[in-house]
Amino acid sequence: MSYQANFRVWRGDSSGGSLEPYQVEVNEGEVVLDIVHRLQATQAPDLAVRWNCKAGKCGSCSAEVNGRPRLLCMTRMSTLPADEPVTITPMRTFPVLRDLVTDVSFNYTKAREVPSFVPPPDLKPGQYRMQQEDVNRSQEFRKCIECFLCQNTCHVVRDHEENKPAFSGPRFLMRVAELDMHPLDAAAEGGLDRKRSAQEEHGLGMCNITKCCTEVCPEHIKITDNALIPLKERAVDRKYDPLVWLGSVIRRR
Ligand code: SF4
Ligand code: F3S
Ligand code: FES
Repeated sequence: MSYQANFRVWRGDSSGGSLEPYQVEVNEGEVVLDIVHRLQATQAPDLAVRWNCKAGKCGSCSAEVNGRPRLLCMTRMSTLPADEPVTITPMRTFPVLRDLVTDVSFNYTKAREVPSFVPPPDLKPGQYRMQQEDVNRSQEFRKCIECFLCQNTCHVVRDHEENKPAFSGPRFLMRVAELDMHPLDAAAEGGLDRKRSAQEEHGLGMCNITKCCTEVCPEHIKITDNALIPLKERAVDRKYDPLVWLGSVIRRR
C-alpha cells in the first residue's frame, strides 16, 4: 500500500535554516532513509544526508525524527503516524554542516582522550587468558556502532555547549569503564588510574544517571546500568556520592 505523506525537513547550514515542507510517496516496508532518498531523487537533489550501510551497522545516518534521536535507516515509516507530518532534523548536540549532516568531530576528540588498552608486559599475544564472564562483559560494549545518538541525547551536553570540554559523554565513559574492568589492562602499572581519570578528565561525576543514553541506543547496550553506574561505584566512595546509592537502588528494581 502506498500513500502520500507530509514531511518537514530541516534545510540550512551553520548560518541558519528552516523546516521545509515536502510531500513524498511512502511504500509499504519503507524506512525514513528511503523517503530521504526519494526526496533527493525527485524534489531536492541537493539535500545533504550522511548514510552508508542502510542496515543499522555503520552508525552514519543518525538524526532526529519527530524530535527523537534515531537511525534514519532503522526507523520504519509504519511506526510513525501516517496522518501527521514527519519532521526530520539533524542531531541537535553537534554543529550543523548542511541539512541533516552534523559535524561529529567532538566525539573523535573525546575518543582520542581515552588512553588505549595497555597489554600486560609479562605476556605475549596468544598467551592472554580471560574468564568467559570477563569477555562477555566487554563484548556488550563492543557492539557500539558509534552512531553517537547517546552523545546527542545526553542532557549534560545537549544544549550545554559549555559542558563539552569537561564531559566525554556516555559512549566514551563506557569505553573507560570497559578498559577499567578489563582484567589484563596494565595501564595502572604505568601510573594511569582509569577510575580517577574517569572522574577528573572525562566528567563521570556530571552524569546523573538519567538513562536517556541507554534509551536511544540502537544496539540496546545497557550503557548506564552496565558501564556508568558500575564505574561510578568503583570510582567513588559510596558515602560521598548519593547518586551511586540511588543508581544501585534503581538497578535493583
Ligand atoms: Fe550509538 Fe549505542 Fe554506541 Fe552510543 S553506545 S554510540 S547509542 S551504538
Ligand atoms: Fe547522560 Fe546517560 Fe548519564 S544520558 S546523564 S550519560 S545516564
Ligand atoms: Fe548505516 Fe543507517 S546507514 S546505520
